[in-house]
Amino acid sequence: MTSSVGHIEIRDLTLRFAQQGQSVQALQGITLDVHSGEFVSVIGPSGCGKSTLLNLVAGFIAPSGGSITLDGKPISGPGADRGVVFQQYSLFPWKSVLDNVEFGLKLQGADKRTRQQRAHHLLALAGLGGFENFYPSQLSGGMKQRVGIVRALAANPRILLMDEPFGALDTQTRALMQQMLTELWQTLGISVLFITHDIDEAIFLSDRIYVMTARPGTIKAALPVTLKRPRLPDVVLSPAFLEIRARLHGLIAGERQHAFSTELVVA
Ligand SMILES: Nc1ncnc2c1ncn2[C@@H]1O[C@H](COP(=O)(O)OP(=O)(O)OP(=O)(O)O)[C@@H](O)[C@H]1O
Ligand SMILES: [Mg+2]
Repeated sequence: MTSSVGHIEIRDLTLRFAQQGQSVQALQGITLDVHSGEFVSVIGPSGCGKSTLLNLVAGFIAPSGGSITLDGKPISGPGADRGVVFQQYSLFPWKSVLDNVEFGLKLQGADKRTRQQRAHHLLALAGLGGFENFYPSQLSGGMKQRVGIVRALAANPRILLMDEPFGALDTQTRALMQQMLTELWQTLGISVLFITHDIDEAIFLSDRIYVMTARPGTIKAALPVTLKRPRLPDVVLSPAFLEIRARLHGLIAGERQHAFSTELVVA
């Protein structure tokens, strides 16, 4: 993987859902970039359109207006150039860890030797060496999600799209997963677009954080995170971390209030 690919360019993106004869404006005029090899997070209040944004980049839904390109090419549907990880583990329960990871490569027509080499290499990087023949039911939540990440990486995507991937995990497991993801990202040189509710998680992981407004989702701010890497767990105590956390809290607090009052009006 070279670092000259994986550039997402989103311009003036709009999405309206048609719902029981009514139109719901989910996103409005979103402009956002993920540069090659960059780790970018998006945070915002519940219902502001974060998952919708990710689904658009994944190509699962089509925009109502505006454009999304990956390395200059418009996105017109799902593709192996983007790996997707959701909060739910979505592994095949009847397949072993190895078969789960190899699945995408098989679809691409990769031969058995290539598939197994790639799968073993990535599983080892994710700390899952030795678990190849286990089944999902035999794994912890954190391990299942590591398999999900490895599976998304197996087909050698240019960018990893992640929608609250650690949302179902306990705090301690979550911290370990953040560390592992950072290491995988740095080793592979891949771009990441990461959705989260968690401000600390966004700061710990990202090069840049976009803050969205309540629905219809627009971009309220984009903040660079200039904390040096590697970032150790105690970086959360540093003045630089606390300063950016305070700024993000300030930006989001008003939006939470707004989202809540909108819900009340709608209800
Ligand atoms: N398929 C759909 N049809 C109609 N409306 C939808 C659909 N999917 C999402 N929406 C609406 O679009 C808005 C954005 O939803 P989305 O799931 O993207 O929010 P979110 O920011 O990911 O929220 P959360 O933080 O709770 O995951 C919401 O008002 C939601 O009700
Ligand atoms: Mg969501």
